[in-house]
This record gives sequence, C-alpha cells and structure tokens, in this order.
Amino acid sequence: MTFKPAKWPRKLRSAEWYSGSTKDVIYHRGWMKNQGYPDDLFDGRPVIGILNTWSDMTPCNGHLRELAEKVKAGIWEAGGFPLEVPVFSASENTFRPTAMMFRNLAALSIEEQIRGQPMDGCVLMVGCDKTTPSLLMAAASCDLPSIVVTGGPMLNGWFQGERVGAGTHLWRFSEAVKAGEMTQEEFLSAESAVTRSSGTCNTMGTASSMASMAEALGMALSGNAAIPAVDSRRRVMAQLSGRRIVQMVKDDLKPSDVLTRAAFENAIRCNGAVGGSTNTVVHMLAIAGRVGIDITLDDWDRCGRDIATILNLQPSGKYLMEEFFYAGGLPVVLKRLAEAGKLHKDALTVSGETVWDEIKDAVNGNEDVILPIDKPLTEKGGIAVLKGNLAPKGAILKPSAASAHLMQHRGRAVVFEDIDDYKAKINDDALDIDETCIMVLKNCGPKGYPGMAEVGNMGLPPKVLKKGITDMIRISDARMSGTAYGTVILHTSPEAAAGGPLAVVQSGDMIEVDVENRRLHLDISDAELAERLSNWQPSHETAASGYAWLHQAHVEGADTGADLDFLKGCRGAPVGKDSH
Ligand code: FES
Repeated sequence: MTFKPAKWPRKLRSAEWYSGSTKDVIYHRGWMKNQGYPDDLFDGRPVIGILNTWSDMTPCNGHLRELAEKVKAGIWEAGGFPLEVPVFSASENTFRPTAMMFRNLAALSIEEQIRGQPMDGCVLMVGCDKTTPSLLMAAASCDLPSIVVTGGPMLNGWFQGERVGAGTHLWRFSEAVKAGEMTQEEFLSAESAVTRSSGTCNTMGTASSMASMAEALGMALSGNAAIPAVDSRRRVMAQLSGRRIVQMVKDDLKPSDVLTRAAFENAIRCNGAVGGSTNTVVHMLAIAGRVGIDITLDDWDRCGRDIATILNLQPSGKYLMEEFFYAGGLPVVLKRLAEAGKLHKDALTVSGETVWDEIKDAVNGNEDVILPIDKPLTEKGGIAVLKGNLAPKGAILKPSAASAHLMQHRGRAVVFEDIDDYKAKINDDALDIDETCIMVLKNCGPKGYPGMAEVGNMGLPPKVLKKGITDMIRISDARMSGTAYGTVILHTSPEAAAGGPLAVVQSGDMIEVDVENRRLHLDISDAELAERLSNWQPSHETAASGYAWLHQAHVEGADTGADLDFLKGCRGAPVGKDSH
C-alpha cells in the first residue's frame, strides 16, 4: 500500500489550544507554563500525549512509569513536545468482577481524554490484557496518529527445575493439588517463582497475544511484542517509538491508514501461527468495529483454518516469551507466513513502510522455538468457529489448546446455571458426571456475569481428575484466560442472559461437537427448543445503576466484539468549542 505523507509544516490540532494571543490561548498555555515549559515549546511543534496505563494496581504495567521517560526522550529528540497522561488501567489480576467489564469504560474514557485535550498524536503505553485493546479502540475512534509501546513480558519463571509460565502453571498446579499430585505448600512456594520480574504474563496468553496483534496489525514498530520488560532493548524500543510518533504526526499517518482489512487478516493469521489467545477474537472484532472494518467471526474461521501454529510457546507448547525474543520474535513468524503466501505483504505499518519491508531480513535464531512451517506444533492453529442450534451466532474453540480425542464427541450435558451453581456443585462426589459428559456453564457472557469473565475453562470435578483425566469438553458463554488450555468452547452467542439457546440446555440433554465440520448441536427437536425458549425467563443478576447498568444495557454480543453499541465507529478528534 502506498501512503502519501501530508505536507509539513502545517497547523496542527494543538494550535487551537496553544497558538495565538487570545484570552483562551493564554489560559491554556499559561497554566501549562506552571510546569516550567519555555515559550518555544508552544511554537506549533507536535504535541504528543503519552497515554500511560501505569498503575501500582496493575502490576503487569508497573514499570511503564519509568519506560515513559524513554518515550519522552525520543519525542524530545525528534522535536516533539511530550505530555504524559495517566489513563484508565484495568488490571486482569485484580479488577472485579472482571477486567473485561471495564475494557469499554476504559476505551470510552481514553477516547474522550484524547478528544478533549490538545494532542496531535498518541503513544499507547500498554501491557496487561485489557489495556492493549482499550487503548487501540480509543485511538481508532479518534483517528489521531498513534503508536503502541508494549511494556513487554516477564522473564521466564522456574520452579523445581521446570520452566513455569504465568497463569498457565497457576491452572496446572491448582489441578495438581486437587488431584493429590502436589501439596498446598509446594503450590504456595511456586507463587513467586512464576512471576519473578516486571512485565506481562510470559506465556502466549492474552497480553502477549494482543502485543502480537498490535505488531501484526502494523500499529507498533517491528519487534515490539516480544522484548522482555527488563531487557535494555525494551527501553530502546520505547525511545524509537517516541521518535517515530513525531514523524507520524508530521506525515499525518493515522490508525485508519494502518487498520485496513488486510491488516486485520494478517493479524488473524498471525494469531493462529503463534497459538494466540481466544480473547484476541473479541478484542479484534471490537477494534475493527471502531474503524468500520467489517471483520466477522466467519473471517476468523476462514483466515485461520489452514494456519499452522509454529510457535512452541506455553500454553500450547514448551517455551516462554523470553525464548521467543531470543529466537527473533514476531518478525520471524510474520516472515514465515509471508513465505507461505499467508500474509498481505503490502500492508502499511506505523513505520511508514510495508510489513514486508519490516520483516524481510528477520532471521530465526532457534528452530525449536519458532518451528519450520512443515513441522508445526499444531497443523490447524487458527480459531475454530462452531455454529449450530446451540450457537446460532457462533462459538469459538482453540484447537491447539484442545484434546484431539474430543474434537468429535457426543456427550451428556451437565449444566451449571451460573458460576455460583458451578462452585457449589463441582466438588460434590454425588454430582452425576464422568469424563464423557459435557460441562455447560450459563450466564457468564457480556451481559450475564456481567463483563464475560474468564471462567469458561471450568476446573474438572475432583472425582474425574483422580482418575488421571485432564480434559473434558466445556461449553459456556464466558471467556477463558489466554494462559489456559483444554477443549473449551467459549463465547457461545447469543449468550444465555440474552436468551440464546444456551439458556435452555438441561442436564441430561445430549450435545454433539464436531470441530472439523464446525458444528455445535443440542440434540433436541426444533419444536422442543422453540418451546423451551418461549418459556425462558432471565435469571442473571441485573444492576440498577452505575456503570454496571450502562454496560448491561448497551453491551453487544461476543460475536461482534462485546463493545457498547453507542461506541462503535470512528468519531474523529474535532477540537470542539472552548468554554472560557
Ligand atoms: Fe496482566 Fe497477565 S495478568 S498480563
């Protein structure tokens, strides 16, 4: 794609606040001077907002305050004026009921922080799962030049001589304790070993997957996704990104120039190649919705169907992000896709060059980490989109994290009406369940939980685990942590709380799963299904006020990205009226 840079110099958006001698301008400019900024910084140079999701309550982004200094250095060097802006930071590991409920609130507030303030361009400082999509959604809706700087993953965790991944081994150890294979004391001593440095989860969980998506979309400089948080090259990346955003403003290179259909198709294929999180589906649909690109679940299935997973990383494989970086990082994966004819090589990136220009010289430093395309970890690594009378608008499954023997299965449903019902029953030995059953969880979707919690990978009942069984089919309208694994069917749409067929599944019903044929079928007659749906009454909790009310009233289904209906689309960043 050919991009034609705008003419420079020209009047920028920030000049509406800072240029001239009116009372309003003196008010805006004069108050800024109380921070010690000299006159010449208000001479029409690009004002860059560094939108920082640093927070002591978001440990994965805890180092971004320091990293922002390197971004600032780059902006100063390139002749810009950096202004750091703290923005809503939803931590995956602390926010209740689930950080996902606040992704859209974060995007809403950040969009207005961009629009209402004198920024000409934005650096999106992100890391933990929801921070990347929320800032990308906001930037896409405002369409000011923007570049992603990721905080980077943690260093490898090690416990008892084994490489342990953040999140992934939490689930593994928890199941091992329940199965009597690990003591509670060992579990406690593993706690600090798993998360031993600054940074985001070191597996190909949602944070690393979304960092990969940002790079594959072309919204970050090449190589951004994999550099560990504590590696000095992470700080170099931050500084280079600071330099780059200034030129992007001068060129007027905007998200809408980068976020094209080709870019999204590249990212979807990349997600399959790296064995990325199922959460990327809902986030990428939401980002596409902000720029008006009609990407659907069918595109996910079509683009990902023949993509092999070539990255040998947990939770699907063996290694962690640190080794991915040493092997060459995402540019190597994208180059492999390009050589296989699976990449739109001419897609534009924030560098101003095509993706192919950025990756063509990438060299694989470790063929056991980034595997040859003819010796993949999984032949079919994309996200499978299942449809049928149980999921008329689709449900998703990650084949690379699932068990081959369960990909075609018919089983008896064991239904949990909500997460509390599951918790109350799952440890009861009287529960009528065995490994051939299909666990069904309702009311955990965008409206139901609310927020669509990561509870879809329900732990198995102890009496099944004790037999040495480690996987069963699980179906829900929930999400699953990107660090988790199993034959887990997620995002079933419409969700139960919106009256989807999932709401009327009963224990004892038979369910058929056929991943190859993309089928998810509740084995009851059409008449019976219609009868049950006509008698259905919602049973999820509803909020009477506050943001939870707004969310439940306006959130859309997972099949279109679970954005708030009134936030979809690009509204631009007009300068607005002055109030003084
Ligand atoms: Fe923040 Fe995993 S919990 S990146």
